[in-house]
Amino acid sequence: MVLEGMTGAGKSTLVQAYAANFPRYEAEDGTRIPVFALMTPSPITVKGMASHMLAELGDPAAYRGTLQNMNARLIHYLKVCEVELVILDDFQHLIDSETNKILAKVSDWLKVLIKETGIPFLVIGIEDSVERILRANQQLSRLFAVRETLHPFSLATEDEAKDFHRFLEFAEQAVKMPIQHDLSPDEFLARMYFATEGVVANLMNLLRFAALLAQKEGEATLSLQLLDQAFNKRLQRHLIKPPNPFSTPLKNILVGLQGKTSDSTSTVKKSRTKSASEVLNTK
Ligand SMILES: Nc1ncnc2c1ncn2[C@@H]1O[C@H](COP(=O)(O)OP(=O)(O)OP(=O)(O)O)[C@@H](O)[C@H]1O
Ligand SMILES: [Mg+2]
Repeated sequence: MVLEGMTGAGKSTLVQAYAANFPRYEAEDGTRIPVFALMTPSPITVKGMASHMLAELGDPAAYRGTLQNMNARLIHYLKVCEVELVILDDFQHLIDSETNKILAKVSDWLKVLIKETGIPFLVIGIEDSVERILRANQQLSRLFAVRETLHPFSLATEDEAKDFHRFLEFAEQAVKMPIQHDLSPDEFLARMYFATEGVVANLMNLLRFAALLAQKEGEATLSLQLLDQAFNKRLQRHLIKPPNPFSTPLKNILVGLQGKTSDSTSTVKKSRTKSASEVLNTK
């Protein structure tokens, strides 16, 4: 399976939380690793990838031997450790960042490894990059019949707006600093969406930094002013947006959102016809 999504969508966090449910353990006759999760190294070569996998499995001689020797050990360990799923994060490292070329030898080597072990692989990476890697190697592509995308939150439909709202409530609890709700829930949601584009990393960055500012100033709640400050310091330059999304007049925010939720962005499916402002105004 392939799991792709834009940077900060929460892919690594999601799979790490999943893998944590199946930790490695010591059985009487050796180590068991039900879910083997690892990052793709960068820069990467076939031998580098093989030794990295061996090291992550716990082979004390991970960097020794010929490639053939390493391959044999890798296949052996994956079997005796009874690995049921391999999760390979940052799969886009199979594209050389200097030349922008796909590392065909690594991709071929991976194809052989998957076929020889027969173990399911989940590869995770930035959307479009994974597609590119697979399109360049049809035999590898064939092995990844299931392809899913982790989308950012959206306000395009009422159901999606509810999901975003629910996530915000959890995030507020996670940073252990309640938000001072001076605005209507819909307006607050619209402003939050404008400030974060529905991307989990932006949202958490904003709330975590605002909570830190609140602590420093001895406040017990997150005011809109603190959220503005946190946005200006942490997100404004990254997202290239005007400052103060929590105090700018609402009509400016809605105009910005209308542009965002039209079918011009890749994060919003073309079938979603309602704009964020329409959803918000019908409530
Ligand atoms: N479900 C979640 N709950 C709380 N915080 C989250 C959640 N998912 C992601 N985050 C936070 O968002 C940030 C980015 O998440 P993560 O690294 O998983 O994104 P990613 O999709 O793997 O990004 P990249 O493609 O750049 O590797 C992290 O700070 C993480 O703590
Ligand atoms: Mg990641």
